[in-house]
Amino acid sequence: MNTLAEQHRQAAQKRINASHALDGDAKRLVRYYREWAGSYELDLEREHYRSPFIVAELAGAVQAAYIGRERTAMTILDAGCGTGLVGIELDHLGFRVIDGLDLCETMAEMARQTGIYRHVRGDVDLNIPLSDYSSASYDMTVCCGVFTLGHVSPHALRELARVTRSNGFVVVSTERSYSEATSFENEVLRLQQAGVLTPVQYLSNGRYVGEEEAHYWAFRVHRGPGGIGDHLA
Ligand SMILES: C[S@@+](CC[C@H](N)C(=O)[O-])C[C@H]1O[C@@H](n2cnc3c(N)ncnc32)[C@H](O)[C@@H]1O
Repeated sequence: MNTLAEQHRQAAQKRINASHALDGDAKRLVRYYREWAGSYELDLEREHYRSPFIVAELAGAVQAAYIGRERTAMTILDAGCGTGLVGIELDHLGFRVIDGLDLCETMAEMARQTGIYRHVRGDVDLNIPLSDYSSASYDMTVCCGVFTLGHVSPHALRELARVTRSNGFVVVSTERSYSEATSFENEVLRLQQAGVLTPVQYLSNGRYVGEEEAHYWAFRVHRGPGGIGDHLA
């Protein structure tokens, strides 16, 4: 028997799958997320979305293992913050200085409404250079649920590294089907060979959403010989 709960779950799954078919087209992504914003969190909850928790825990582990600075003083950029689910998890772990950005202003406004972020900027596209963001601005950049089919290209990783300070960290999730379909791992290798970043932690095939799995990465950012300078590379 198809219960009401099951119907809701199937509808949520359909909306999540439909978001993967937006071809990275900024206008389509904005339109889709603007309409989805009101039921986004409920849909993701129905599909047991675990990524914000895992990304925040990984950020916490990286801080504990590698960064001397107190969590309360660390500056974090949540790139593709959506409604603020990652910010909420980071806040639970004691991080206090969190900025957000998102392509969709409606999602960004919901993140603002959580009251957790220091500042949230909407209308920011991770598929093009982050020209309003100076290099080396953050101790850590997190990006959860955004390296996903139909959303952001692997090339965005370079910009996430650029806005992160030297010896800071970038923590991201990559949906498994995205990793298989794109050249994300090649991009990591290219950036590693160019001295831009080094992977320090990798959780493969972790829980993501519904039956879908994701990989979780933490990268240390480098500057200096071979690394990216304080300007767009
Ligand atoms: C699956 S949601 C993840 C949101 C949040 N990080 C979370 O884990 O709940 C994807 C988010 O990425 C944003 N997004 C999609 N394409 C983007 C782009 N090119 N630049 C910036 N944000 C983008 C969407 O607006 C949406 O808020």
